[in-house]
Amino acid sequence: MSVDDHKRAAGQAAAALVEDGMIVGLGTASTSEFFVAALAARKLTLKCVATSEATAALATRLGLTVIDLDDAGVIDLTVDGADEIGPGLALIKGGGAALLREKLVWEASARCIAIADATKTVGPFGRFPLPVEVVSFGHASTARRLAAVLQRQGIAAPPVLRTKAGQTVRTDSGNVIYNVACGTIADPPALAAALKAITGVVEHGLFLGLAQTALIGTDEGVRTLHP
Ligand code: A5P
Repeated sequence: MSVDDHKRAAGQAAAALVEDGMIVGLGTASTSEFFVAALAARKLTLKCVATSEATAALATRLGLTVIDLDDAGVIDLTVDGADEIGPGLALIKGGGAALLREKLVWEASARCIAIADATKTVGPFGRFPLPVEVVSFGHASTARRLAAVLQRQGIAAPPVLRTKAGQTVRTDSGNVIYNVACGTIADPPALAAALKAITGVVEHGLFLGLAQTALIGTDEGVRTLHP
């Protein structure tokens, strides 16, 4: 089976957990796209909150009803991908540049499920470059202060501005992203707190204590992980 087969299986397993009448948070990027497709195929009566413009467009095209986060109240269940899954279901997210909206939706949800292929669970936590979303105004200045904070956390790698095809990547909220090749994150809660305290940093890709379940696609079937 391919990585895409694993992603599809995880997405389908999550879609099977959705009940009629729910308000559902929809994640961003390829695994979430499999979930959105499987969910739309069930033809349930749902209201959905999207974590990106791309997901909102896909969901609408497939016939799902997309509403604003502010009209949703408490979201019953959010299903979203992950770039890395560590001990206790600590996650790194933001590879798809949607980390800010993703975290807003996750924190508005009664229950969150991470879906991923098996490659996301290997290695020391911090292997995937940690995305840090920074306000566009003065972002190079913010990045210098970010580098100093990282050094104090024992992370020597410099923040690298995310680009695509030579262009600076902008998030749906107009911010930029710096990637930090942490290697191993020894103390994720301490790093998360330090990053949040930097003026100009809007959000980071550490999702700690937010996922109740992870569904991992493997050759042997979908594995369910709990913190
Ligand atoms: C999006 O910003 C990320 O948080 C995604 O969940 C992540 O990049 C997962 O990507 P795939 O589902 O494409 O592996």
